[in-house]
Amino acid sequence: MEKTFTLSNGVTIPSVGYGTYKVIDASAADIVRTALECGYRHLDTARIYGNEKEVGEGMQMSSVPRNEIFLTSKVWKTHLSYDDALRSVEESLKDLQTDYLDLCLLHWPMPEGDHAHWQQRDLAAWQALERLYEEKVVHAIGVSNFLPHHLMPLLAKANIKPMVDQLEIHPGYCQPYAMSFCQKEGIQVEAWSPLGRTRVLEEPLLLELAEKYGKSPAQICLRFALDNGVLPLPKSASLERMKANLDVFDFRLSPEDISRIFTMAQTGWSNQHPDTF
Ligand code: A2P
Repeated sequence: MEKTFTLSNGVTIPSVGYGTYKVIDASAADIVRTALECGYRHLDTARIYGNEKEVGEGMQMSSVPRNEIFLTSKVWKTHLSYDDALRSVEESLKDLQTDYLDLCLLHWPMPEGDHAHWQQRDLAAWQALERLYEEKVVHAIGVSNFLPHHLMPLLAKANIKPMVDQLEIHPGYCQPYAMSFCQKEGIQVEAWSPLGRTRVLEEPLLLELAEKYGKSPAQICLRFALDNGVLPLPKSASLERMKANLDVFDFRLSPEDISRIFTMAQTGWSNQHPDTF
Protein backbone atom coordinates (compact mmCIF):
# COMPACT_ATOMS: atom_id res chain seq x y z
CA MET A 1 0.00 0.00 0.00
CA GLU A 2 1.21 3.51 -0.80
CA LYS A 3 3.76 4.65 1.77
CA THR A 4 4.69 7.64 -0.35
CA PHE A 5 3.06 10.10 -2.70
CA THR A 6 4.86 11.71 -5.63
CA LEU A 7 4.58 15.47 -6.04
CA SER A 8 4.09 17.06 -9.45
CA ASN A 9 7.83 17.81 -9.69
CA GLY A 10 8.70 14.13 -9.09
CA VAL A 11 9.71 14.53 -5.43
CA THR A 12 8.67 11.61 -3.22
CA ILE A 13 6.97 12.42 0.08
CA PRO A 14 6.14 9.95 2.90
CA SER A 15 2.36 9.57 2.92
CA VAL A 16 1.92 10.04 6.68
CA GLY A 17 3.78 12.93 8.30
CA TYR A 18 4.32 13.88 11.93
CA GLY A 19 2.63 17.20 12.75
CA THR A 20 4.50 19.30 15.31
CA TYR A 21 1.97 22.06 16.05
CA LYS A 22 1.90 22.52 19.85
CA VAL A 23 4.93 20.26 20.29
CA ILE A 24 6.59 23.07 22.16
CA ASP A 25 7.28 22.22 25.80
CA ALA A 26 10.58 21.22 27.40
CA SER A 27 10.34 17.74 25.96
CA ALA A 28 9.69 18.85 22.36
CA ALA A 29 13.11 17.82 21.02
CA ASP A 30 12.76 14.42 22.69
CA ILE A 31 9.29 13.97 21.22
CA VAL A 32 10.60 14.72 17.73
CA ARG A 33 13.49 12.29 18.22
CA THR A 34 11.03 9.64 19.40
CA ALA A 35 8.80 10.22 16.37
CA LEU A 36 11.78 9.72 14.05
CA GLU A 37 13.01 6.67 15.88
CA CYS A 38 9.58 5.02 15.83
CA GLY A 39 9.42 5.34 12.07
CA TYR A 40 8.27 8.80 10.96
CA ARG A 41 10.33 10.15 8.09
CA HIS A 42 8.27 13.27 7.47
CA LEU A 43 8.17 16.19 9.92
CA ASP A 44 5.85 19.16 9.50
CA THR A 45 6.67 22.38 11.32
CA ALA A 46 6.20 26.12 10.74
CA ARG A 47 7.83 29.39 11.73
CA ILE A 48 4.71 30.34 13.75
CA TYR A 49 4.79 27.10 15.77
CA GLY A 50 7.84 28.50 17.59
CA ASN A 51 9.45 25.06 17.78
CA GLU A 52 11.89 24.95 14.88
CA LYS A 53 14.90 24.93 17.24
CA GLU A 54 13.44 21.95 19.09
CA VAL A 55 12.57 20.17 15.83
CA GLY A 56 16.15 20.77 14.67
CA GLU A 57 17.52 19.43 17.97
CA GLY A 58 15.27 16.39 17.76
CA MET A 59 16.59 15.65 14.27
CA GLN A 60 20.18 16.02 15.50
CA MET A 61 19.53 13.78 18.52
CA SER A 62 17.97 11.00 16.45
CA SER A 63 19.87 8.30 14.65
CA VAL A 64 18.08 9.14 11.40
CA PRO A 65 20.24 10.95 8.85
CA ARG A 66 18.96 14.27 7.49
CA ASN A 67 18.68 12.93 3.94
CA GLU A 68 16.17 10.31 5.10
CA ILE A 69 13.90 12.96 6.65
CA PHE A 70 11.32 14.90 4.65
CA LEU A 71 11.17 18.27 6.39
CA THR A 72 8.48 20.90 5.83
CA SER A 73 8.29 24.42 7.21
CA LYS A 74 6.06 27.39 6.45
CA VAL A 75 6.19 31.16 6.06
CA TRP A 76 3.66 32.91 8.31
CA LYS A 77 1.22 35.49 6.95
CA THR A 78 3.09 38.39 8.58
CA HIS A 79 5.88 37.66 6.06
CA LEU A 80 3.96 37.85 2.79
CA SER A 81 6.39 40.00 0.87
CA TYR A 82 9.32 38.93 -1.29
CA ASP A 83 12.05 39.98 1.15
CA ASP A 84 10.21 38.94 4.31
CA ALA A 85 9.52 35.48 2.90
CA LEU A 86 13.21 35.03 2.02
CA ARG A 87 14.16 36.15 5.52
CA SER A 88 11.64 33.81 7.11
CA VAL A 89 13.05 30.77 5.29
CA GLU A 90 16.60 31.80 6.19
CA GLU A 91 15.61 31.93 9.87
CA SER A 92 13.81 28.58 9.62
CA LEU A 93 16.92 26.96 8.15
CA LYS A 94 19.09 28.37 10.92
CA ASP A 95 16.79 27.19 13.70
CA LEU A 96 16.28 23.80 12.10
CA GLN A 97 20.08 23.41 11.69
CA THR A 98 19.81 22.45 8.05
CA ASP A 99 20.69 23.98 4.72
CA TYR A 100 17.57 22.92 2.82
CA LEU A 101 13.87 22.23 3.27
CA ASP A 102 12.17 19.40 1.46
CA LEU A 103 9.01 21.48 1.26
CA CYS A 104 8.23 25.08 2.05
CA LEU A 105 4.67 26.41 2.21
CA LEU A 106 3.03 29.82 2.44
CA HIS A 107 1.19 29.10 5.68
CA TRP A 108 -1.94 31.17 5.19
CA PRO A 109 -3.19 33.44 2.40
CA MET A 110 -3.36 37.15 3.10
CA PRO A 111 -6.85 37.69 4.58
CA GLU A 112 -8.85 39.50 1.89
CA GLY A 113 -10.48 41.90 4.35
CA ASP A 114 -7.15 43.01 5.83
CA HIS A 115 -5.38 44.12 2.70
CA ALA A 116 -6.66 45.54 -0.56
CA HIS A 117 -3.77 43.99 -2.46
CA TRP A 118 -3.97 40.55 -0.94
CA GLN A 119 -3.43 38.78 -4.28
CA GLN A 120 -0.22 40.72 -4.92
CA ARG A 121 1.01 39.98 -1.39
CA ASP A 122 0.47 36.25 -1.86
CA LEU A 123 2.17 36.44 -5.26
CA ALA A 124 5.20 38.40 -3.99
CA ALA A 125 5.84 35.83 -1.25
CA TRP A 126 5.25 33.04 -3.76
CA GLN A 127 7.91 34.52 -6.05
CA ALA A 128 10.36 34.32 -3.16
CA LEU A 129 9.59 30.61 -2.81
CA GLU A 130 10.01 30.19 -6.59
CA ARG A 131 13.49 31.73 -6.30
CA LEU A 132 14.43 29.45 -3.39
CA TYR A 133 13.15 26.48 -5.39
CA GLU A 134 15.27 27.45 -8.43
CA GLU A 135 18.26 27.81 -6.10
CA LYS A 136 17.50 24.33 -4.66
CA VAL A 137 17.29 25.71 -1.11
CA VAL A 138 13.81 24.18 -0.99
CA HIS A 139 13.06 21.03 -2.96
CA ALA A 140 9.31 21.61 -3.32
CA ILE A 141 7.00 24.56 -2.72
CA GLY A 142 3.35 24.92 -1.91
CA VAL A 143 0.68 26.65 0.10
CA SER A 144 -1.52 25.99 3.09
CA ASN A 145 -5.11 27.02 3.82
CA PHE A 146 -5.45 28.34 0.27
CA LEU A 147 -9.00 27.78 -0.96
CA PRO A 148 -9.80 27.73 -4.68
CA HIS A 149 -10.46 31.48 -4.73
CA HIS A 150 -6.97 32.08 -3.30
CA LEU A 151 -5.36 29.56 -5.61
CA MET A 152 -6.91 30.77 -8.86
CA PRO A 153 -5.24 34.21 -8.94
CA LEU A 154 -1.95 32.64 -7.83
CA LEU A 155 -2.10 29.96 -10.53
CA ALA A 156 -2.79 32.64 -13.13
CA LYS A 157 0.46 34.49 -12.35
CA ALA A 158 2.84 31.90 -10.89
CA ASN A 159 5.77 30.58 -12.91
CA ILE A 160 5.82 27.43 -10.80
CA LYS A 161 2.59 25.78 -9.75
CA PRO A 162 2.25 24.93 -6.04
CA MET A 163 2.98 21.26 -5.49
CA VAL A 164 1.05 21.02 -2.19
CA ASP A 165 -1.91 22.61 -0.43
CA GLN A 166 -2.20 21.79 3.29
CA LEU A 167 -5.79 22.14 4.48
CA GLU A 168 -7.83 21.25 7.53
CA ILE A 169 -9.40 17.94 6.57
CA HIS A 170 -10.93 15.26 8.79
CA PRO A 171 -14.17 13.28 8.91
CA GLY A 172 -16.01 16.22 10.50
CA TYR A 173 -14.76 18.77 7.96
CA CYS A 174 -13.87 17.37 4.56
CA GLN A 175 -13.64 20.43 2.28
CA PRO A 176 -14.59 18.34 -0.79
CA TYR A 177 -14.60 21.31 -3.18
CA ALA A 178 -11.09 22.45 -2.24
CA MET A 179 -9.89 18.85 -2.21
CA SER A 180 -11.12 18.11 -5.73
CA PHE A 181 -10.01 21.51 -7.08
CA CYS A 182 -6.44 20.76 -5.94
CA GLN A 183 -6.52 17.22 -7.22
CA LYS A 184 -7.67 18.36 -10.68
CA GLU A 185 -4.76 20.82 -10.69
CA GLY A 186 -2.27 18.11 -9.70
CA ILE A 187 -1.68 19.72 -6.29
CA GLN A 188 -1.07 17.21 -3.48
CA VAL A 189 -3.46 17.83 -0.58
CA GLU A 190 -2.17 17.43 2.96
CA ALA A 191 -4.46 17.34 6.02
CA TRP A 192 -3.77 19.25 9.22
CA SER A 193 -5.68 18.06 12.29
CA PRO A 194 -6.63 14.82 10.50
CA LEU A 195 -8.08 13.52 13.79
CA GLY A 196 -10.34 16.55 14.14
CA ARG A 197 -8.45 17.46 17.35
CA THR A 198 -9.96 14.20 18.72
CA ARG A 199 -13.50 15.56 18.65
CA VAL A 200 -14.68 13.27 15.88
CA LEU A 201 -13.27 10.15 17.50
CA GLU A 202 -16.42 9.46 19.54
CA GLU A 203 -18.77 9.75 16.56
CA PRO A 204 -21.03 6.69 16.27
CA LEU A 205 -20.13 6.21 12.59
CA LEU A 206 -16.41 6.21 13.34
CA LEU A 207 -16.91 3.82 16.26
CA GLU A 208 -18.91 1.54 13.96
CA LEU A 209 -16.22 1.62 11.25
CA ALA A 210 -13.48 1.06 13.84
CA GLU A 211 -15.28 -2.09 14.94
CA LYS A 212 -15.88 -3.23 11.35
CA TYR A 213 -12.22 -2.83 10.27
CA GLY A 214 -10.69 -3.89 13.60
CA LYS A 215 -8.93 -0.53 13.91
CA SER A 216 -9.26 2.56 16.15
CA PRO A 217 -11.38 5.60 15.20
CA ALA A 218 -8.13 7.57 14.78
CA GLN A 219 -6.86 5.00 12.29
CA ILE A 220 -10.18 5.28 10.41
CA CYS A 221 -9.61 9.06 10.18
CA LEU A 222 -6.10 8.57 8.80
CA ARG A 223 -7.30 5.99 6.28
CA PHE A 224 -10.11 8.36 5.28
CA ALA A 225 -7.44 10.88 4.29
CA LEU A 226 -5.20 8.36 2.51
CA ASP A 227 -8.09 6.72 0.65
CA ASN A 228 -8.94 10.16 -0.72
CA GLY A 229 -5.33 10.69 -1.86
CA VAL A 230 -4.76 13.14 1.02
CA LEU A 231 -1.60 13.09 3.15
CA PRO A 232 -2.42 13.23 6.89
CA LEU A 233 -0.18 14.95 9.47
CA PRO A 234 -1.27 13.51 12.83
CA LYS A 235 0.43 14.64 16.00
CA SER A 236 0.78 12.77 19.25
CA ALA A 237 3.08 13.09 22.21
CA SER A 238 2.55 9.44 23.14
CA LEU A 239 4.80 6.75 21.68
CA GLU A 240 1.94 4.26 21.58
CA ARG A 241 -0.32 6.61 19.59
CA MET A 242 2.56 7.71 17.35
CA LYS A 243 3.03 4.08 16.40
CA ALA A 244 -0.70 3.46 15.98
CA ASN A 245 -0.93 6.44 13.64
CA LEU A 246 1.68 4.84 11.36
CA ASP A 247 -0.07 1.46 11.46
CA VAL A 248 -2.60 2.26 8.75
CA PHE A 249 -1.24 0.40 5.75
CA ASP A 250 -3.00 -2.94 6.17
CA PHE A 251 -6.56 -1.93 5.31
CA ARG A 252 -8.61 0.37 3.08
CA LEU A 253 -12.06 1.88 3.56
CA SER A 254 -14.70 0.78 1.04
CA PRO A 255 -16.06 3.48 -1.31
CA GLU A 256 -19.43 3.17 0.49
CA ASP A 257 -17.86 3.83 3.89
CA ILE A 258 -15.97 6.82 2.49
CA SER A 259 -19.26 8.21 1.16
CA ARG A 260 -20.88 7.72 4.55
CA ILE A 261 -18.15 9.83 6.15
CA PHE A 262 -18.64 12.62 3.60
CA THR A 263 -22.37 12.50 4.31
CA MET A 264 -21.76 12.66 8.07
CA ALA A 265 -19.62 15.77 7.60
CA GLN A 266 -22.33 17.43 5.50
CA THR A 267 -25.36 16.47 7.52
CA GLY A 268 -24.02 17.05 10.99
CA TRP A 269 -22.11 15.32 13.69
CA SER A 270 -22.18 15.68 17.44
CA ASN A 271 -19.39 18.15 18.05
CA GLN A 272 -19.05 20.27 14.93
CA HIS A 273 -17.77 23.87 14.90
CA PRO A 274 -14.14 23.30 14.12
CA ASP A 275 -12.23 26.06 15.81
CA THR A 276 -9.83 28.13 13.81
CA PHE A 277 -6.09 28.35 14.07
P1 A2P B 1 -1.82 12.86 22.38
O1 A2P B 1 -0.64 13.77 22.07
O2 A2P B 1 -2.06 12.72 23.84
O3 A2P B 1 -1.75 11.54 21.66
P2 A2P B 1 -5.08 16.47 15.46
O4 A2P B 1 -3.85 15.86 14.83
O5 A2P B 1 -6.33 16.19 14.72
O6 A2P B 1 -4.91 17.96 15.71
O7 A2P B 1 -5.25 15.80 16.89
C1 A2P B 1 -4.24 15.87 17.84
C2 A2P B 1 -4.73 15.28 19.12
O8 A2P B 1 -5.04 13.91 18.89
C3 A2P B 1 -3.72 15.32 20.22
O9 A2P B 1 -4.42 15.82 21.35
C4 A2P B 1 -3.31 13.86 20.44
O10 A2P B 1 -3.13 13.64 21.82
C5 A2P B 1 -4.50 13.11 19.93
N1 A2P B 1 -4.16 11.83 19.31
C6 A2P B 1 -3.15 11.58 18.46
N2 A2P B 1 -3.18 10.32 18.03
C7 A2P B 1 -4.25 9.72 18.60
C8 A2P B 1 -4.82 8.43 18.53
N3 A2P B 1 -4.27 7.48 17.77
N4 A2P B 1 -5.93 8.19 19.26
C9 A2P B 1 -6.48 9.16 20.03
N5 A2P B 1 -6.00 10.41 20.13
C10 A2P B 1 -4.90 10.70 19.41
